[in-house]
Amino acid sequence: MEYSELVNLARQARDFAYAPYSKFRVGAALLAVDGRVFLGCNVENVSFGLTICAERTAIVKAVSEGSRQFCSLAVIGDTSSYCRPCGACRQFIAEFGSEIVVIMANDQGEFEVSPISVLLPASFSLSVSVGEGKR
Ligand code: THU
Repeated sequence: MEYSELVNLARQARDFAYAPYSKFRVGAALLAVDGRVFLGCNVENVSFGLTICAERTAIVKAVSEGSRQFCSLAVIGDTSSYCRPCGACRQFIAEFGSEIVVIMANDQGEFEVSPISVLLPASFSLSVSVGEGKR
């Protein structure tokens, strides 16, 4: 699938964003290796800290439907800036593979592309948390 196609799907997902507090709508589209695409949007809450980002919505949908291997994730905001995943989302994406390509789009549909390993270098990982010979 073309990156631009995945960005278009993320834009469609953005229509469902629930963002009455920030007014910043975000959409995400996650392409799994088996070709399935999972969409997500941000879902805010009056208790602000409970807000869930679009990227994590898409990943949670995918994993809860049996999909764990991903090729790429497109994310789009509604400003002229490229929408780059927040730190929490970077960690969440990295959980499922360092090679996942993140496509960061602006409201014009232009985008930049980067593997998650570049967006989250030297990350905390299972090998760090388990450690060698520590358990
Ligand atoms: N947001 C996302 O959905 N993804 C990100 O990576 C950054 C931020 C949302 C959370 C909140 O609803 C709004 O954007 C403003 O921060």
